[in-house]
Amino acid sequence: MQMDKLVSLCKRRGFLFQSSEIYGGLNGFWDYGPLGVELKRNVKEAWWRDMVRCHDDLSVLPGAPSSYAMTGLDCTIVMHPQVWKCSGHYDLFHDFMVDCRESKRRYRHDQVCGRWVEAKGKKVFVSTPESDTAQEELTRKALKFFNLRNKDADNLQWDGAVVSLTTIDGFDQVLGPDAKELGTLTEPREFNLMFKTTVGALGGEDDAAFLRPETAQGIFVNFKNVLDSSRHKLPLGIAQIGKSFRNEITPRNFTFRSREFEQMEIEFFCQPDVSGQWYQYWRDRRMQWYQDLGLAGQRLQLREHDAGELSHYSRGTADIEYAFPFLPEGEYGELEGIAHRGDFDLRSHMEGKLDESTNPLEVQLGEDGKPKWRGSGKDLTYFDDDAWERDKEQLGTNSFKAYLKGREDQSDPGAPYQYTPHVIEPSAGADRAALAFLCEAYAEDEAPDEKGKLQTRVVLRLHPRLAPVKAAVFPLVKKDGMPEVAQDIYRALKAKYNVFYDEKGAVGRRYRRQDEAGTPYCITVDGQTLQDHTVTIRDRDSLEQDRCKLDDVVAEIENRVG
Ligand code: GAP
Repeated sequence: MQMDKLVSLCKRRGFLFQSSEIYGGLNGFWDYGPLGVELKRNVKEAWWRDMVRCHDDLSVLPGAPSSYAMTGLDCTIVMHPQVWKCSGHYDLFHDFMVDCRESKRRYRHDQVCGRWVEAKGKKVFVSTPESDTAQEELTRKALKFFNLRNKDADNLQWDGAVVSLTTIDGFDQVLGPDAKELGTLTEPREFNLMFKTTVGALGGEDDAAFLRPETAQGIFVNFKNVLDSSRHKLPLGIAQIGKSFRNEITPRNFTFRSREFEQMEIEFFCQPDVSGQWYQYWRDRRMQWYQDLGLAGQRLQLREHDAGELSHYSRGTADIEYAFPFLPEGEYGELEGIAHRGDFDLRSHMEGKLDESTNPLEVQLGEDGKPKWRGSGKDLTYFDDDAWERDKEQLGTNSFKAYLKGREDQSDPGAPYQYTPHVIEPSAGADRAALAFLCEAYAEDEAPDEKGKLQTRVVLRLHPRLAPVKAAVFPLVKKDGMPEVAQDIYRALKAKYNVFYDEKGAVGRRYRRQDEAGTPYCITVDGQTLQDHTVTIRDRDSLEQDRCKLDDVVAEIENRVG
């Protein structure tokens, strides 16, 4: 599938528009149109329904070590600035950038690559941000810089391989990606990806706050509130869907890397001893979710990170990836990350930001020897009173304090009754999921028109649960009472689903418009309806048309959509 065809369909049919398009658009921001908003809501609704609302907490699900509870939250976008200091985003969530004084362009330091080349007695480092066609680009730039023609390419003496700009010290002899002169790139500068904002009217540095770059932290800081206000016990997953903001340096590839996007995150809190098993469970469960909704082919993969990529406190991280058509052959883009985060986050919010490089983890200290970023000081540990009640008699004490006293020399004196839960974090992007479902669904095939002649058609084979419009209702012609019957069906279906009524134009053209929008079923009222009270239901994918009794249409669509 060519990406430009999907992009054009998305605009033409109202899935996606560039934000503020009439003013020339704003890079990295996207608006969902009438069909897009339904698709994205369906993605989020499917996730919430499958993960949270319809979760069966009474059964042990296949692959799970035990039964577990799921619940939800909806937190604010602006949170206390200390949250981001303790989470690590304030210190770590940045990229290094280089600016070009000549072209006024900005590049991510690690995304520019280049190669040393010599000609006419001069040696320079030519550079480009294009990684796929780097050598082609570098040759073009070098020929231009040395004022040589294509046929003189042999005069270019290349030295060494194509390397990242990060390996070059001093940029005096570097030709920036869009520069004509040497030495126009600035030294790399840090650039925090969090959007800064001001809370209140005074607007001083003390009032600075950030738009959240992830929804996860709202869950961590509310962990105790959820436990205290509900009767939930661990293992417990807390889910949240919401907007996140990252001032991405290079927003690109349609909605794939946006500056404003939506995440669907679960923080799953569990007992440390079983956290490895829970990690396996969530990895497989989340992969299955995408497959069940139609990403069933080779383009979806689960990639487990190498041990070398993991922080020492994590027992695993896996990415669910999709081979988006805008990526080079063989490359995949991340849809979701599933991370075993140990007790890093809860401890950081309790004790102060932990130092990732310490083992066992210790609070990161500032130059004054005090915690660099102070935690809340609140107790975020969990007490398993069921287990304590069960065991205390056998332990010969009624007092948990006495139990702790007897284990003072242990690193985890409260275990296995009181502990800081481990966290498994399945973190997905709603926009990336919607984009992957669109890419997978796009197809061109042939379907017969009303005269039976095969015509090329564009079709979105979206899973019925995700399709923006579940059914379209047509009277075959605009007379003989057919519109009235069709409108009654339309109204009955509309109480449950987003459906569409259309009585204009040839029926074949109406079918094709719905195929392009991904509508799985078209219901047509025809001459026979008036005699035997049946209608046809056309299936978008098989093109089969079944007759169904008028009274059964709603149930039939419900049955098919699921
Ligand atoms: N709490 C963990 C976390 O935020 P992440 O890998 O940075 O992890 C999780 O983000 C998911 O959010 C990604 O897998 C992706 O689907 C989505 N995401 C992240 N940055 C994005 C961006 N700039 N545009 C669209 N989606 C993004």
